[in-house]
Amino acid sequence: MRGSASRWSSEGERLTDLRTDGAAALEWAASYLERVKQLPVLAQVRPGEIRARLPPSPPDQPEPFAAVLRDLDEILLPGITHWQHPRAFAYFSVSSSEPGILAELLAAALNSVAFLWRTSPASTELEGLVLDWVAQLLGLPSGWHGHIEDTASTSTMAALIAARIATGRDLVVCSEQAHSSVEKAARMLGMRLRSVPSDEQFRMRVDAIGDLSDAAVIVATVGTTASTAVDPVGEIARAAERAGAWLHVDAAYAGAAMVCPEFRWAFEGVEGADSLVVNAHKWMLTPMDCSLLWSRRPEDLRRAFSVVPEYLRTPDAEDSLSLSEYGPALGRRFRSLKLWAVLRCHGASGLREHIRRGVELAAMFERWVADDPEWELCAPRHFSVVCFRLTGEDERNRELLARVNASGDILISHAVLAGRYVLRLAVGQMHTTEEDVRLAWEVLRRESAGL
Ligand SMILES: Cc1ncc(COP(=O)(O)O)c(C=O)c1O
Repeated sequence: MRGSASRWSSEGERLTDLRTDGAAALEWAASYLERVKQLPVLAQVRPGEIRARLPPSPPDQPEPFAAVLRDLDEILLPGITHWQHPRAFAYFSVSSSEPGILAELLAAALNSVAFLWRTSPASTELEGLVLDWVAQLLGLPSGWHGHIEDTASTSTMAALIAARIATGRDLVVCSEQAHSSVEKAARMLGMRLRSVPSDEQFRMRVDAIGDLSDAAVIVATVGTTASTAVDPVGEIARAAERAGAWLHVDAAYAGAAMVCPEFRWAFEGVEGADSLVVNAHKWMLTPMDCSLLWSRRPEDLRRAFSVVPEYLRTPDAEDSLSLSEYGPALGRRFRSLKLWAVLRCHGASGLREHIRRGVELAAMFERWVADDPEWELCAPRHFSVVCFRLTGEDERNRELLARVNASGDILISHAVLAGRYVLRLAVGQMHTTEEDVRLAWEVLRRESAGL
């Protein structure tokens, strides 16, 4: 029978069938996750190589889905850098966990386009609910308005736009260690940027913040990208309040750690923020993309983003619920479904365990580095990222990074701190074990011996 779960060719041949192709895709996903640890972490291809293996034009005639799966294996897989690999230690290491993977499939099946409350009441209301749930888990003040954006770059840009409109000013103030998304947003918005020096622990120096009378917004970072430094949020909040500036807190990575009470010190003063971003797709077991943006001043966000043409008009009672009025995008994916699935299937205890395991493994690696005179630590470790280097020249470290990553055994990244080239090992993959971290240390020492 020709059901709506199948697609047929004009010759009556079945091309795709949700049940059989779906089972094959699920089998592919499950076996990929089982074997990913045997694959080289970094894609072993040269720029342009993958594209050259693919046809330059699309097929005229429909092909079966099995052909897509086959080419995924044979052509695309060699060009994948494996973020789900337990030895992916670069940038901020992330994990897409099973409930999130499955919920992405279901969200695509529903294909909700939640620009108005009425175009997807469940998606809109679930989004509000899960943001309240996560706010509780992170110990945020009650009553903040939360919604989901795609990335922290968009969340921060949205905060800057709201701040500019609320204050009528155009200066963005952040630490020199703030993520480049702050500079990018300021540039896109035609706002001026002041980069404040950081101290010896890479925290914003509030004594060097300068005159704030023109400041629209101060961006404080909890968990900077290079070293996971924590800006003094409470002190910055007081300065922002005195100056009548908006305070945006970027906790894209480290925010997730606040599920554990022992890390809440890093959120000291966060109650004074006007907006806060935490990426669930970084350390909260949720697939890319899922950036959580809360605001204490939702009406300012709404003032900045609410443009309602005639065709989108609905009865007043629905208006304030439409989340497209709080951010740049009109069409909105059902992202809350995957976060809801993650929160329910891991529970708060599962999230806490995940964070603590990452921090313990990073602490273990940090001790090995500290105990070896050939190596040095380069920044305080607050969470699951260790900044370290081989003693001596930057060049040795640069070469070492290239060698260890080319080996495919592990993937790490680098940063420049206090003018020196440093290596970063970030733990965050849910399947990373002590053995994986031990292997990382072995690979680093093995490759350093060959320099
Ligand atoms: C502190 C911080 N903020 C913002 C971002 C940007 O995140 P996204 O890729 O979601 O835009 C990053 C990325 O790593 C980050 O480390």
